[in-house]
Amino acid sequence: MSAGPSPDLPQALNSVRAGEAPIPAAAPPPRGGAPQLAAVLREMRWWDIAPVLELERELFPEDAWSPGMFWSELAHARGPHATRRYLVAELEVPPHSGTDEGRLVGYGGLAAVDGTGDIQTIATARDQWGTGLGARLLTELLGAATDFECHEVLLEVRVDNLRAQRLYERFGFEPIGFRRGYYQPGNHDALVMRRTTQTSSEAPSVQGT
Ligand SMILES: CC(C)(COP(=O)(O)OP(=O)(O)OC[C@H]1O[C@@H](n2cnc3c(N)ncnc32)[C@H](O)[C@@H]1OP(=O)(O)O)[C@@H](O)C(=O)NCCC(=O)NCCS
Repeated sequence: MSAGPSPDLPQALNSVRAGEAPIPAAAPPPRGGAPQLAAVLREMRWWDIAPVLELERELFPEDAWSPGMFWSELAHARGPHATRRYLVAELEVPPHSGTDEGRLVGYGGLAAVDGTGDIQTIATARDQWGTGLGARLLTELLGAATDFECHEVLLEVRVDNLRAQRLYERFGFEPIGFRRGYYQPGNHDALVMRRTTQTSSEAPSVQGT
């Protein structure tokens, strides 16, 4: 299947977002010059879909999600039975810029069904790579998984997307298998990674004093 989300998540592994091609080195943070504007994370809403799609098509040129995929995901992101958490990262508005809208520079989404979370998608604008924004988005999504009482979180990533894999490894994700030809039409393989939540019974025991 393509790397799109599955509306009802019949199998957790079927719903996980694509990884993409190897990525050139990130632009370094500016030295001197204009200070970097801070990115603020907030819930993704339907009016964010258009700017998110712009990033999506740039960052996932082979298998970008359609507008309908995002609409479908957001339809499950609110209310007492919500199973999704979607976030965007928005740059602060520069002073005297003449606009009150910040630029969207990242997004990510998590689905949670029956105690299993899936990182459906995560991406940051190229000019933000290496600033820690990907890590911030992932931290929030893992926090959402905790809120949904997930005991594990899964994701799939293209086998050649080493930058993303390093990010996931830093957060405790471990490879558990491959999905051959998962990403079409390019026929790229996916690495499946999992992060388990340590329960109190598994936690290392602490010696009493
Ligand atoms: C993968 C992706 C989300 C990572 O986002 P990011 O914002 O670059 O992530 P981070 O900045 O948190 O970390 C990435 C790297 O920057 C480094 N970094 C983090 N903060 C930094 C800082 N303040 N200064 C310098 N480097 C920093 C990290 O150490 C890390 O380096 P490493 O990969 O060599 O260990 C982003 O590259 C992306 O959108 N890629 C295209 C879409 C994609 O592949 N998504 C994943 C699909 S599975």
